[in-house]
Amino acid sequence: MAVIFKVRGTRDLLPPETDLWNHVERTARAVFGRYGFGEIRTPIFEDTQLFARGVGEETDIVSKEMYTWEDRARAESERAQSLTLRPENTAGVVRAYIEHKMNDTGMLQKLFYIGPQFRRERPQRGRYRQFWQIGAEVLGPAWSGAESPLRDAELLEMLATLLNELGVNGWRLELNSIGSATDRPRFIAALREALAPIKDRLCEDNRRRAETNPLRVLDSKAPEDQRLIETLPKIADFLDEESTEHFKQVLAALDACGVPYHVNPRLVRGLDYYTRTTFEFTALDGSGLGTQNALLGGGRYDGLSEILGGPKAPGIGFAIGEDRLILTLQAQAERDGAVAERKLDAFVAPMCIAQNAAALALAKELRAAGLSVEVGDGMFRLRKSFETADKLAHRMVIVGEDEVKSGIFTVKYFAAGEQSKVPRAELPNALRGLVPSGVAGG
Ligand code: HAM
Repeated sequence: MAVIFKVRGTRDLLPPETDLWNHVERTARAVFGRYGFGEIRTPIFEDTQLFARGVGEETDIVSKEMYTWEDRARAESERAQSLTLRPENTAGVVRAYIEHKMNDTGMLQKLFYIGPQFRRERPQRGRYRQFWQIGAEVLGPAWSGAESPLRDAELLEMLATLLNELGVNGWRLELNSIGSATDRPRFIAALREALAPIKDRLCEDNRRRAETNPLRVLDSKAPEDQRLIETLPKIADFLDEESTEHFKQVLAALDACGVPYHVNPRLVRGLDYYTRTTFEFTALDGSGLGTQNALLGGGRYDGLSEILGGPKAPGIGFAIGEDRLILTLQAQAERDGAVAERKLDAFVAPMCIAQNAAALALAKELRAAGLSVEVGDGMFRLRKSFETADKLAHRMVIVGEDEVKSGIFTVKYFAAGEQSKVPRAELPNALRGLVPSGVAGG
């Protein structure tokens, strides 16, 4: 029979790599908890309209990358519906915010999520069709302070703290203000005007963007177009006083918290809902990510709730590409020679099949005492057990007929090359990570 493989652009995450994923997620949860965030879980698929309206029809995500299907009616009373696997989670969070009338609480909502997203992109290292995001959103009615520049700075400072706690070296924060809903149309009009005479000299992608979404020309990485792009108008010259002041206050608060940043006037991001502050954190060269070096991105979306039919509820958020964060940490560990070896506390080895049951009972006892334990099978010769145990665990406990009777077990400590006899009751301590074996001498 032909073997069935995973779909292109998807990945299987296997142990021990999943330990790192869990560590990253645990750290994120702990940091988010300290900043007052609660977890939200929204469905993996939503009404297609949510993304079309929220993210924007003209964006690459909606126009090219979504997994959309017509969900057939199962009964006469039902209607067929166009559904989409979520390409991002902000629209879903804001939908849930509206649906559950969170605005009525009058309180600022701080929500985080961890989960898979789906985009039909061309797969490459750091870019997958199913990928994971760790994200957070802060939103609320205007009187909750959701619009305050302090929220932008708090979110960015939290991200800097999280990346530092995870040990990500050399991250770089770039940010920009793309102005309010009234600044943007003026800027886009100016951009269109400036693009009109030079459009034909741009690469094909940028020629298309110049028509459909001129803002995206600004953050194009196409090397051949850079000189022309440099000549285009800058959004900073089109910001109204309020947006300029807002951005100034974000930067001042970042300075006060000691978060380093670079203002990048060309950073516009690829989703239509953004207003004012937008940002990206990139990984250091050598992270192994190549051109996919945006570890995370985010920004303000003061009008999104209204676009989705909800009340005025300004907000700001981010999403970390968890796959990219993990790749960065792995590349870093490899470079620093710090690839951690994952070993269990003990391997329980029965001398022969007759001791299998006693070995399993001992393993149960040790696991109940909080140790990580693997148990062998007496069918294997002791030498084979030795090899397996050395690969899997720090120490090995031999379970023979005499040991079971006397309640004194032989413990082998591989790293130290020593062996000792330990009474059953003292085994948990003798096998625990740092405590040397040999409690009973031997
Ligand atoms: P985004 O920039 O589209 O923003 O995605 C955020 C991050 O997800 C990227 O910086 C990248 O690390 C990761 N990412 C995106 N596409 C892929 C992919 N195909 N494979 C692997 N990783 C990927 C958003 O999604 C917004 N919802 C962020 C946000 C939250 N803005 C406000 N709140």
